[in-house]
Amino acid sequence: MAIHDDIPPPYSMVGTHGVFPHANHDERARFNFLANLNKHVAGTLGPGNRLAWEKRALPKFIAEHDREPQDRFEVRRAMNADPYHRFWSALKRNNMEMRQQNGRSIVLRQLEDLNARAAAASGSGEGLELDPSVAIPRYQRAVDIHCMPGSYHGEELPGDVSAGANYDCGIFVTTGGGMGALSDGGGQAIAKWAKETRPDWRPRRILDIGVTVGHSALPMAMAYPDAEVIAIDTAGPVLRYAHARARSLGVTNIRFIQMNAEDLSRFPDSHFDWVQTTMFLHETSGLALPKIIGEGARVLAAGGLMLHLEQPQYTPDMPLFEQFMRDWDAFNNNEPFWSAMHAYDMHDILADAGLPRDQQFEAKVRAVVDTAIFPPSVEGDSEDFGRAAVWHAYGAWKQAVAMQEAAE
Ligand SMILES: C[S@@+](CC[C@H](N)C(=O)[O-])C[C@H]1O[C@@H](n2cnc3c(N)ncnc32)[C@H](O)[C@@H]1O
Repeated sequence: MAIHDDIPPPYSMVGTHGVFPHANHDERARFNFLANLNKHVAGTLGPGNRLAWEKRALPKFIAEHDREPQDRFEVRRAMNADPYHRFWSALKRNNMEMRQQNGRSIVLRQLEDLNARAAAASGSGEGLELDPSVAIPRYQRAVDIHCMPGSYHGEELPGDVSAGANYDCGIFVTTGGGMGALSDGGGQAIAKWAKETRPDWRPRRILDIGVTVGHSALPMAMAYPDAEVIAIDTAGPVLRYAHARARSLGVTNIRFIQMNAEDLSRFPDSHFDWVQTTMFLHETSGLALPKIIGEGARVLAAGGLMLHLEQPQYTPDMPLFEQFMRDWDAFNNNEPFWSAMHAYDMHDILADAGLPRDQQFEAKVRAVVDTAIFPPSVEGDSEDFGRAAVWHAYGAWKQAVAMQEAAE
C-alpha cells in the first residue's frame, strides 16, 4: 500500500517479529494520532518558533541588552518567555509523554506473555551474557531518558523485557516510519556506508556499544555474516529483548553482553576491527565519554574502523537559533548531556584517545528508505523526498603505530 507523502505511515505497517508487542485497535489508533501530531508539531508548527524569534523574542532581547545573544543559552532564556514557544514546547513534550505512555501500557498489559515469548525465542540463552552486578551508571539512572518510564533498565518482573519492548514498538511512531518497518534504517545505512567506503574490507570482530534492542547491530551482523558481533549494554531488559529479537529474526552472529563501555578490560588491545556507537554518546556524560572513546580506541585493531553516528555537533558557523532548537531535547526531553556533548570538539577527544586527526574523517550517513513503506513514485527512482534521516558520522581508520610514526 502506498501512503500519502505528507502523513506518517499507519501503525499497521510496522514490522513485527516473534517478540514484538501486539497492539489492539485502540492502541494502534492512539499511535497513529501521536505520529501525526508529532509530524504536525515538527513540520507545521515548528517553523513558528523562528517567526517568534525573529519578530518578537530577538527584537526584545536586543532592546533589553543592546546587543545580539552570545550563545544558545541566551536564545533559550529569551524564547522560554515567548508564548508561542512555550505552547509549542509543551505540546511537543506532551506528545512524547503520550507516546511513551501508550507504548508502556501496551507492553505492561501483556508483560508476562512478552517475557515468556522472549524466553522461548532466546532458547538456551546462548549468545546472551547477563551480569546483574553491572551498575547502572548515574547518567542512565538520574532521569527517565527521553521520558521513557524506567529508562532502559527498569524491571517489573524477573526476566523482564518491558523496556526493550516499549522502545521497539514506539520508535516507529517517533520517527514517522522514517527508519523503516523494523526501525533499522540507521543500521542498514551504516553497513551500506562501510561497504561503499571499503568494498574489500571484511571486519572479523565488531563491537557495538550501547546496542539497546539491536536496531543497528542486526543490519551490521547481517551485512557481515562471517563476523562475530559483540553487542554491549548496561541494561539487562533491553539486552534480553535484543537477544530474543535477533533470534526471532534469524540473526545468530551476535553475542549480547551486559557490561559498561567505560571499562572494556575484558577485551585485549586490538581485539576488534570495528567499534561502533549509534545515537549513543549523547546519553553518557562528560566523564564517561572520553573513557569510552579511549577504551574503544584501545580495543581497536590497526586498520580498523571507529565510527560514531550522532546529530551534528554545534560549530561556530551553526546559527545560535539552530543550536537552541537542536538543544530542545536537553532541557525538555530528559536528555541531560545532549547540549554539552554536541558542543564538544570530538576530533580532540578522538585524538586524545590515540586516533590522530590525520586518521579521522567526517561523513554524512543517510538512512536507508524502506521502499515497502515509501515506494518510489517512479519505478527505479532513488529520490527519497526528504524522508530519510541524515546523520552526522565521524570516526577514524586506525593506523598501525609503525605507519603512524613513519608519517610523523
Ligand atoms: C540511545 S540508546 C542507543 C541506540 C542503539 N545504538 C541503536 O542504534 O538502536 C543508548 C543505549 O546505551 C546504553 N548505555 C548507556 N551507557 C552505557 C555504557 N556506559 N555502557 C554500555 N551501554 C550503555 C543504554 O542502556 C541504552 O540502551
